[in-house]
Amino acid sequence: MNNIYLIGFMGCGKTSAATYLERVYGIPRIEMDRDIEADCGKTVSQIFAEDGEMYFREKETLLLKKIAVKEGIVISCGGGVPIRQENVEIMKNSGTIVYLQAEPETILQHVSRSNRRPLLEGRKNVEEIGRLMEVRTPVYEKAADMVIQTDGKTVAEVAEEVGRRNGLI
Ligand code: S3P
Repeated sequence: MNNIYLIGFMGCGKTSAATYLERVYGIPRIEMDRDIEADCGKTVSQIFAEDGEMYFREKETLLLKKIAVKEGIVISCGGGVPIRQENVEIMKNSGTIVYLQAEPETILQHVSRSNRRPLLEGRKNVEEIGRLMEVRTPVYEKAADMVIQTDGKTVAEVAEEVGRRNGLI
């Protein structure tokens, strides 16, 4: 309960903000992708390729149910978590959903050198990211209790805003 769920498009800065809050303020965090990778013994890309996206989505819901009973954690959710209404309800019932909003240009800067996001492989340009975002944006907006704009802000600025607006710091 009283958890902070960071949602938003791949590369919007969820992991960086949560890591900062843990490092600077000692607020415990959970990185959903990392926990799923540890549980499955393979990377997200391998899970998508070998077991399929549906399997990964099941893993996300199972993990969320375990997280929901914890207290005072900051969670960096995988970008697809709010697609399932069931997940949104689990998050709403156990904390606050904070949407980190970023423009495609910002996302591209953050994801350009990473190859750990199967849904972005071969799509790392502003147009494709914008197209994927058009589908996701209404999902994030509907789920969000709070929206934080991240374009042009440092990790520290975003994380401090998350912390302050939620009374964590
Ligand atoms: C996904 C986002 C990724 C990861 C997976 C699918 C998505 O997490 O869960 O590649 O559907 O948006 P990040 O948002 O941490 O990159």
